[in-house]
Amino acid sequence: MANESVNIVDKRTNASYDLPISKGTIRAMDLRQIKANADDFGLMTYDPAFMNTASCQSAITFIDGDKGILRYRGYSIEDLAEKCTFLEVAYLILFGELPTTVQLTQWVNEITHHTMIHETTKKFLEGFSFNAHPMGMYISTVAALSTIYPDARNISDPATRRLQICRLIGKVPTIAAYTYRHSLGYPYVYPDNELSYTENFMNMLWRMVEPKYQANAVLARALDILFILHADHEQNCSANVMRAVGSSQADPYVCTAAAAAALSGPLHGGANEEVLRMLDEIGSKERILAFLENVKAGRGKLMGFGHRIYKNYDPRARIIKWAADRVFEVTGRNPKLEIALELERIALADEYFIKRKLYPNVDFYSGIIYQAMGFKPEMFTVLFAIPRTVGWLAQWQEMLADPEQKISRPRQIYTGHELRKFVPIEKRTAEAVVG
Ligand SMILES: CC(C)(COP(=O)(O)OP(=O)(O)OC[C@H]1O[C@@H](n2cnc3c(N)ncnc32)[C@H](O)[C@@H]1OP(=O)(O)O)[C@@H](O)C(=O)NCCC(=O)NCCS
Repeated sequence: MANESVNIVDKRTNASYDLPISKGTIRAMDLRQIKANADDFGLMTYDPAFMNTASCQSAITFIDGDKGILRYRGYSIEDLAEKCTFLEVAYLILFGELPTTVQLTQWVNEITHHTMIHETTKKFLEGFSFNAHPMGMYISTVAALSTIYPDARNISDPATRRLQICRLIGKVPTIAAYTYRHSLGYPYVYPDNELSYTENFMNMLWRMVEPKYQANAVLARALDILFILHADHEQNCSANVMRAVGSSQADPYVCTAAAAAALSGPLHGGANEEVLRMLDEIGSKERILAFLENVKAGRGKLMGFGHRIYKNYDPRARIIKWAADRVFEVTGRNPKLEIALELERIALADEYFIKRKLYPNVDFYSGIIYQAMGFKPEMFTVLFAIPRTVGWLAQWQEMLADPEQKISRPRQIYTGHELRKFVPIEKRTAEAVVG
């Protein structure tokens, strides 16, 4: 709407300011003109954890957290999950439009021809202890790709950027599968370029001595759907890290590794692993009420519940529940599902969770499917990182193309000491020790 503005009166000076509103937002820099006196730095905003601050303008993903809506480039997640393949959605997220048949064929071909990793990267992986956490191996190995492709530093060249995007999307399943094989002590399986993206991933995970791996079509499709659901989620913690690290013009491999590191935390992508641990700890339906009482008393969280943006059912959780039923027809029902369903039913009827608008998020059911497919919980966050690489790269590209973006650098409110007189070591007392 034209001529929208907000009027602020500074009670310190009685000066009045009209700040323009655009897209429901005022510019934080417009506040800087509001000064108590000529020497004043100007007004800032204080927003720990970005609760009410837009850090960018983005045309990639739309979320309406109150209505439970998720769209990539304007298409509903339900349509995309039902009608597309993961690489088709990756193309949409990265380039803004759904591909034509010719574009998709070319894109799939491009990604497929970047699935191999350098032999030295294999050796690098071998340096990890057999019981190293797969996510630690994954993050380090993605970062190590930076040493193999020094050309990636040329981030201002669109062709170079596209090449690294293809390399990363092509190689992350290979790295993920190798971390898995490494932890089992099995030899690595080379990519098979005749297979689809998810079939090839399953081939690299599970092929043993058979000459050609035959993926179960239902499981391959379920994995594809899970990848679609995890591909992007606007300015979440890891996307924000991708943009922040990328804003220093670091290469996309180290940026992606940094984003994956952010994802690994239990409050973000690490939650799916924690959900399985929680269900193990609960053990049986009879123990759910006691567990929830502990959560309500502030002793621990109900993992897989709650979201910064969704204050209604996470639409991805609904699709995952649907996919779970297809998977269980092949694998048999995961006994943990019964506990999860009952936990959800009780929590959704409980005043504590209703009042705080806490609903199941994407991680509540994804681990149950992954476990039924044969993955160990330590692999769950790696399975999240593979498809999210697409979203991170789209956010990175968009950030680089945005003329308003600069190196990311928040302000602080300094709360420490004023200038202090230096104390020589022999005169310091224990209280003066810096924490
Ligand atoms: C996702 C998450 C980090 C969002 O955090 P947030 O937006 O900062 O929300 P808050 O921590 O302010 O939570 C608001 C209230 O709900 C409570 N709450 C949030 N998530 C909760 C959970 N999973 N279990 C129990 N209580 C929860 C908080 O304790 C707080 O209660 P209070 O108002 O009495 O202090 C948080 O919901 C969480 O830790 N969930 C579990 C981890 C998870 O599943 N992460 C995956 C996200 S896809």
